[in-house]
Amino acid sequence: MVLPRRWRIVLLAAGLCVVIAGIPALVVFLGAFEHSVVDAAVEAPLTAKQIANLAPKGRYIAAAADCVACHTTEGGAPWAGGRPFEMPIGTLYATNITPDPETGIGGWTRAEFQRAVRDGVAKGGRHLYPAMPYVSYRQMTEEDVDAVYAYLLTRQPVRQENRRDSLPFPYVRQFMTFWNLLNLPHDVPAPVAQKSAAWNRGRYLVDALGHCGECHTPRDITMGVIPSRYLQGAVIEGVDAPDITPEGLARLGFAPNRLGDFMRSGMGPQGVMAFAMYDVVQHSTQYLTDEDAAAMATYLAGDPPPPLPAFAAADLPAGTKDNGHRLYVAVCGGCHGLAGEGTPNVAPPMTTNAALRLPQPTNLLTVLITGLPWRDFPHGARLQDMPGFTGLLTDQEIADVANYLRATWGGRVPDVTPATVRGMRPASDK
Ligand code: HEC
Ligand code: HEC
Ligand code: HEC
Repeated sequence: MVLPRRWRIVLLAAGLCVVIAGIPALVVFLGAFEHSVVDAAVEAPLTAKQIANLAPKGRYIAAAADCVACHTTEGGAPWAGGRPFEMPIGTLYATNITPDPETGIGGWTRAEFQRAVRDGVAKGGRHLYPAMPYVSYRQMTEEDVDAVYAYLLTRQPVRQENRRDSLPFPYVRQFMTFWNLLNLPHDVPAPVAQKSAAWNRGRYLVDALGHCGECHTPRDITMGVIPSRYLQGAVIEGVDAPDITPEGLARLGFAPNRLGDFMRSGMGPQGVMAFAMYDVVQHSTQYLTDEDAAAMATYLAGDPPPPLPAFAAADLPAGTKDNGHRLYVAVCGGCHGLAGEGTPNVAPPMTTNAALRLPQPTNLLTVLITGLPWRDFPHGARLQDMPGFTGLLTDQEIADVANYLRATWGGRVPDVTPATVRGMRPASDK
């Protein structure tokens, strides 16, 4: 059958469009736009002596970069991988990065390791998914990545096969070339000459090693972080990772000279680090040296820091105030202090607590409903556990006490309704 001439033209045009659009897509797919920040000189392997010299530094860098948190699964051998990461299209598992030659990175060259960490391209050209925060680690210096490599090579090899991901097609990985084109910065930012050495070191600790933006910067629909909203806060596992820009931290009441200590101890006048942030402190920031913790604080708080805004309590309807206060004194004050001052070694203060000053009540309600487990804090510090009140208080009572706290010590409009509380209770308790 011969198509009418008109149809043949339409088909030809459509075919041409596919080819014209397809060629650039294919070029991107094959990685032609990829740019490695890894210098060709790393093709030279490290000598045994270099490895021995670099390993102690690598231990510190690996802690500051929190590699162990992801590359160890609960109850599993350190560095042997296996921790699951849920993604919209399936589950991914962190890999074995012990020096086992078959199942770990024992057979990886220095250059292969550098490219995995800084370009997101593993041995054999396999693209990594950004659950491995290579977008942040791209800013790591060559020497720091070498140090981590040296440290890992001196760990105990563990023979443990990597778990296969449950993503639909193996070749989805190659599509990361498109994602990288959109979301992986081409180059690494240069130090800012007008800023102090401490500020620049702090930026490196926050952006490159600590990868703080992976949780504190919101993401767009491609799941890339939005540069214009850098560190302005995002939702992580159902709770708020707050705005930690200098202005954001000032609004939460963080004094610049206490911030370094807070990052190392996980507690202070602004309360305790909870949720995913507890793990960051536990595996990573508690190990920072005095100098690095101070540098991190200098960068986070701003150099010079903005003034801390004056605090003013918010208005509260009289009924809510009476009920909230009565409940607080009866149920909470025994641990947190009748005037909210906290009790050393028992419970954090409420008067200066950042959890009450957040724009959203999510973190506060999560703690009130589910509680926090008894847990160790760095350097031997201890608190009690925080009981969950889901079975003990009604929606109205939790809303009243939350509004009382947010208005009185958080300066926040008391906007928690019983329906908000109901929506956050565990399914078993609705
Ligand atoms: C937030 C979690 C997370 C952190 C932190 C993290 N990784 Fe990963 N890493 C992963 C995941 C998940 C994968 C697997 C990615 C994939 O399969 O695409 C991975 C893969 C890798 C690989 C590729 C291994 C292979 O066999 O393909 C290397 C090497 C690696 N990580 C090293 C590191 C180092 C070094 C650090 C610290 C500087 C680090 N990772 C920190 C989650 C993380
Ligand atoms: C894995 C995700 C994650 C990473 C990575 C992360 N944070 Fe957080 N951060 C959170 C969450 C969630 C909270 C809210 C914790 C809370 O309410 O106690 C938080 C809270 C904070 C707070 C306020 C603490 C409080 O109790 O109100 C500060 C300050 C902070 N983070 C700084 C940092 C810095 C600096 C880094 C990088 C070194 C970092 N975070 C990395 C998830 C993360
Ligand atoms: C048995 C003692 C106890 C009681 C009773 C108690 N708490 Fe707590 N609360 C704690 C402890 C301990 C923590 C810190 C737990 C941790 O970090 O592991 C805590 C944490 C919190 C936090 C998180 C603070 C932060 O710094 O992020 C809030 C908010 C809070 N409690 C509010 C309340 C309210 C409101 C009540 C009453 C309805 C209450 N608590 C009753 C012991 C208690």
